[in-house]
Amino acid sequence: MTDRIVLAYSGGLDTSVAIGWIGEATGAEVIAVAVDVGQGGESLETIRQRALGCGAVEAYVADAREEFADEYCVPTLKANGLYQGHYPLVSAISRPVIVKHLVKAAREFGASTVAHGCTGKGNDQVRFEVGIQTLGPDLKCIAPVRDLALTRDKAIAFAEEKGLPIETTAKNPYSIDQNVWGRAVETGYLEDIWNGPTKDIYDYTVTPEFPPAADEVIISFERGVPVAVDGVKLSALAVIQELNRRAGAQGVGRIDVVEDRLVGIKSREIYEAPGAMALITAHKHLEDITIEREQARFKATVGQRWSELVYDGQWFSPLKRSLDTFIEDTQQYVTGDIRMTLHGGAAVVTGRRSGTSLYDFNLATYDTGDTFDQSQAKGFIELWGMSSKVASSRDQRVAGQ
Ligand code: ARG
Repeated sequence: MTDRIVLAYSGGLDTSVAIGWIGEATGAEVIAVAVDVGQGGESLETIRQRALGCGAVEAYVADAREEFADEYCVPTLKANGLYQGHYPLVSAISRPVIVKHLVKAAREFGASTVAHGCTGKGNDQVRFEVGIQTLGPDLKCIAPVRDLALTRDKAIAFAEEKGLPIETTAKNPYSIDQNVWGRAVETGYLEDIWNGPTKDIYDYTVTPEFPPAADEVIISFERGVPVAVDGVKLSALAVIQELNRRAGAQGVGRIDVVEDRLVGIKSREIYEAPGAMALITAHKHLEDITIEREQARFKATVGQRWSELVYDGQWFSPLKRSLDTFIEDTQQYVTGDIRMTLHGGAAVVTGRRSGTSLYDFNLATYDTGDTFDQSQAKGFIELWGMSSKVASSRDQRVAGQ
């Protein structure tokens, strides 16, 4: 039987050419796999037809938008997942869901190998291949750009020579990856890290300099999951979409950073994630009133480690799974509403309410109704400062000798 290879297919030039390129280089049949994670653009049916037109023997298409929102975006929100404190892991969390479908398709179509369109310099190759190794240890991986010398020039020449049904003239100087959680733009003009991003780079957000009137929004959470906007019950996917629209209109969630790739390179990235950043802000503020102090402090550390693991392609790892269990446990009381104002590039929280809040008005107030016994503070401070005080007097004694 002819060998079969499943290819992660985007519908773009590189992966369209990769279908025939892999076929010629290996003699295998290629099955194109297209996964909708909310990247917008063309319909799955259009992409399917193009894959077949480019020589794929089969095309597997999956609408994974709800799955992506529920099983990948929501856990990232629960973790307040921000790599290096900035990046909401947009591409990093889409790779594992694509991997799941690649492995499923490989099983369905009897493929021995999984192919993807990544280069050898980025994180995505690692995320794909570590994921595939973990979910399908018997499967092999191949990356035509990296392993079969499929350069951009060769791709254009190949497409023209074979008359593939794909545009070869459209020239986008950037490498873009997008899904419902956000959008990542890199390369080209942005590689000079002093160059400011130009307007044409953005698509999910409107320039915040001249914003429309402020937009007030109430986001409701149940156990850390966003369940409603302005009192209207929505799926997690619909909440993210709604906030992409409203926070995007106010220019919320633009991020310009130089980040540390897993392969050791520092790289300039522009992200826009209006819905994700508004949601993470709201979620964090709800945690501030519903999670006990020590648990909250430790959770911040766990969230950071979780983000590094996910960034580094360890979505399916045992440690990530264990941290998920911890994070899930912390979400037990993260239920309530956050009111925020979206305006001029900022999402600012202005109110919070929760039936499971730890905020105690009578303890906090400086007005009548105060139930806090201030006389206890004196002794507490004495003991709290004791060990530093003892150490300090030792330091002075030693210095004086
Ligand atoms: N640097 C980001 C990450 O590693 C974004 C990668 C985006 N991929 C792309 N092909 N533009 O998660």
